Amino acid sequence: MELPLADDLHVHLRQGDLLALVAPTIRTGGAGRVLVMPNLKPPVTTVARAAAYRRELQAVAPGVEFLMTLYLSPELTAESLVGAAAAGVVAVKSYPKGVTTNSESGIESYAPHYPLFAAMETAGLVLSLHGEVPSDPDRGTSILDAEARFLTHLEQLHRDFPRLRIVLEHITTAAACACVERLGDTVAATITVHHLDLVVDHWAGRNHNFCKPVAKLPSDRAALRAAATSGHPRFFLGSDSAPHPRHDKETACACAGVFTQPLLMPYLADAFERFGRLDRLRDFACRFGREFYRLPRQTGTIRLERRPCVVPDAYGPVVPYRAGETLAWSCE
Ligand code: DOR
Ligand code: ZN
Repeated sequence: MELPLADDLHVHLRQGDLLALVAPTIRTGGAGRVLVMPNLKPPVTTVARAAAYRRELQAVAPGVEFLMTLYLSPELTAESLVGAAAAGVVAVKSYPKGVTTNSESGIESYAPHYPLFAAMETAGLVLSLHGEVPSDPDRGTSILDAEARFLTHLEQLHRDFPRLRIVLEHITTAAACACVERLGDTVAATITVHHLDLVVDHWAGRNHNFCKPVAKLPSDRAALRAAATSGHPRFFLGSDSAPHPRHDKETACACAGVFTQPLLMPYLADAFERFGRLDRLRDFACRFGREFYRLPRQTGTIRLERRPCVVPDAYGPVVPYRAGETLAWSCE
């Protein structure tokens, strides 16, 4: 199969040595354009820092187009968005406080940010949401229903800013699929590779499959598979590839994140073929995302071949998704 280079509209590329290791694997995995998440230490909260981060990425992976995000925080004001487009910034990412990796500076309420959302609506910037409420078992919330409980916030934001384009990231539930579909043209969702196959059983006790939001129930997975292969233009690829060194995964308190970047398209082709919907892969990975983000077509192409491909045990210190398993597809 020959396909355009994919658009991966949600990636974590880190800093320092890890950045140098991960960024060059974007092309290997079949993507030519990525939306880069801002949860660095410290987070990317200014246009100047986004521009500097982008230059760093371009230096190690010159063949990739990097679209940047800013981390929603009190520092981010409507005035501070000046020059955002020129710095490659296309979205603002919101992390509720404490829900995942480097989200300590995340937000506790959306109301103080309404002037910013109004400015984003006017400027055509996208609001990218980590869609989980903070877990609070004593008040009846756990990581299993944190996404479903977040959906009222999504509905409220959409009601208040109907023209603001919003992406609910890495959805994991049937409830989120239905909600996004219901909300109409300015609300979309990304779906990861790993959530198409993982359920609770796969991460409980298996840290390398632990990510946030956690994979849910078989019925949720069925809804995700249906959404990804439905041909619906508001469900598209965002891998949430999230590398962590082995020592941060193989420990009693593991970091959340699954690393899929180097074999992104082989994983996806393998999955879509098993679902009997290879015909829907191209739009999911190469078209719907770019249309929602209003991006031009990419010029390069990739070739996916039905040739077995063994997932390496490790890339440097990082263990990839499905390490040691054989995928049915290879990518050039
Ligand atoms: O599993 C995850 N890992 N989910 C996130 O939201 C963040 C990411 C990371 O940065 O490691
Ligand atoms: Zn993420």
